[in-house]
Amino acid sequence: MNSPADNPLDRILVLELVRVTEAAAVAASKLIGRGDEKAADAAAVEAMREAFDELYMDGTVVIGEGERDEAPMLYIGEKVGGAPGKGPRIDIALDPLEGTTITAKAGPNALAVLAAAEEGGLLNAPDVYMDKLAVGPGYPDGVIDLAKTPTENVQAVAAAKGVAPADIIVCVLDRPRHGDLIAELRGLGCGVVLIGDGDVAGVIAVTDEDTTIDMYMGQGGAPEGVLAAAALRCVGGQFNGRLIFRNDDEKARARKWGIDDLDRIYTRDDLVKGDCIFAATGVTSGSLLDGVKYRRDGRMTTESVVMRASSGTVRWIKGEHSAK
Ligand code: FBP
Repeated sequence: MNSPADNPLDRILVLELVRVTEAAAVAASKLIGRGDEKAADAAAVEAMREAFDELYMDGTVVIGEGERDEAPMLYIGEKVGGAPGKGPRIDIALDPLEGTTITAKAGPNALAVLAAAEEGGLLNAPDVYMDKLAVGPGYPDGVIDLAKTPTENVQAVAAAKGVAPADIIVCVLDRPRHGDLIAELRGLGCGVVLIGDGDVAGVIAVTDEDTTIDMYMGQGGAPEGVLAAAALRCVGGQFNGRLIFRNDDEKARARKWGIDDLDRIYTRDDLVKGDCIFAATGVTSGSLLDGVKYRRDGRMTTESVVMRASSGTVRWIKGEHSAK
């Protein structure tokens, strides 16, 4: 029997955390396609903040909506949960709406997402870019290495998979900064799946053979990198991440959170340690989850996934709710 004393990520919390991502997804879904990124994000943040209060835990946001002076709610360091000082002490990384632009434009793969770990289990990643490299489960340890070139990484994965480099499919965020990377991959003959936004779902796609995506490469948000690493810690797969600093202010922010080696390459288990839970609910439909759907009978449906590292359990949860 798993008691909170043994492991703060008590089993009860695993399912309860889905209510938190469901609440955020439902709130954001009312703004799908309405062209207002800020309103969609604000609705998700408020709903997630409220839903946390229902949980018996003493939570601390370690990755959230920004620093205290820039985010009114779910800021880094904010206490969440209904049992401060009493409940299990848990660190939370969250993104109430991963894909604000996607939601505003009704595109694919917007998610409400969070990861929970034992105190100190998540890297306090500053809100800077991160160079990311990921591959799904089943490969030898160290098959990917961010210190090597994209070509070397594709060749290593292709050799381990027993295929030619041209058979490897790589997911990349469609951004001008990835022009050289995309050209290099296409030069190898790789298939490049370009996504407009939403690299949490993009990274997780490497764990699902149905997507046919073998690797994820390129720069996206560092907080999203930690969230994706938490999912890979639960279901397997390798991840490398290196923080990218565009100016001294960003470097200072990293140092403030205790990051001294600014060039460090983090593996999945450097980013997320110990037991962890990853939960996500679809806002709009995509490769990972269906989005929130409103039915004519006044009800709505949600789809969520919740995973736990220590047990390796992955639960897919379909919810049916009153749409009132
Ligand atoms: P938002 O939810 O903040 O819109 O983030 C969407 C996203 O695509 C992330 O998935 C990704 O990590 C990041 O933005 C990439 O940043 P940029 O749009 O600056 O390239």
